[in-house]
Amino acid sequence: MYEKRLDNRAFDALRPMEAETGVVPNAKGSARFRIGNTEAVAAVYGPEEVKPKHFEKFDKGIILCKYDMLPFSVPDRAKPGFDRRDTEISQVITNALNRAVFLEEFPRSMITVRVYVTQADAGTRCASLTAASMACADAGLPMRDLIAAVAAGSIGGKTCLDLTKEEEDLHEEGATDVPMGFLPSKDEIVLLQLDGKVTREQLKEVLAVGKKGAMEIYELEKEALKRRVSNESKS
Ligand code: CDP
Repeated sequence: MYEKRLDNRAFDALRPMEAETGVVPNAKGSARFRIGNTEAVAAVYGPEEVKPKHFEKFDKGIILCKYDMLPFSVPDRAKPGFDRRDTEISQVITNALNRAVFLEEFPRSMITVRVYVTQADAGTRCASLTAASMACADAGLPMRDLIAAVAAGSIGGKTCLDLTKEEEDLHEEGATDVPMGFLPSKDEIVLLQLDGKVTREQLKEVLAVGKKGAMEIYELEKEALKRRVSNESKS
């Protein structure tokens, strides 16, 4: 049984967070999101002409998203170049953003999203998705809502929010990780993955604690965007 978390957090507590937008001056929109020792920076470019041309869609725009971990983001230097994990994470982030952005407003156009993980301590796909959605909003793209993403899971049968890498590696206790992303105002799930085993009842609890955590992240994202707008109106 997992009675006390390794970092002494409450089982339903997030790690300390920071969110800010406009961190990449050369991008159309950008954002940084940190949760504990996991941090992602996202930059958005476009809408612009689709390249290569055969990706173009007549009736809507497309999002091309790439997720990458910087070599110094993990203790064993991350290998340069894209591996299967990077490709998978890029795809799940793209799928989620496709639900958030009104792509029908940009026919024959492309929006490029680049996300770099500067520090990784589990939950990087969720931090990246949160940062990417803030960067899209910062770029002024019309959106159905921001995305708030977080992982929750189960360790030794105990439901935990926002696992660290050390917790994810508690294999003997049967750690299970469930990354999830929400469009909160639409009550829609745009990312849901599962690494490990859970019962149906546990999964319900994990989803509930994840949703509660995502709502806290959503508030922080909105505050960061409001700060940016009020700073711009002052200058
Ligand atoms: O990061 P996320 O939890 O979304 O995805 P994961 O594939 O379950 O990876 C969990 C964690 O493993 C990452 O957040 C990193 O802390 C670590 N990792 C690593 O140390 N080196 C890698 N090449 C990939 C992941």
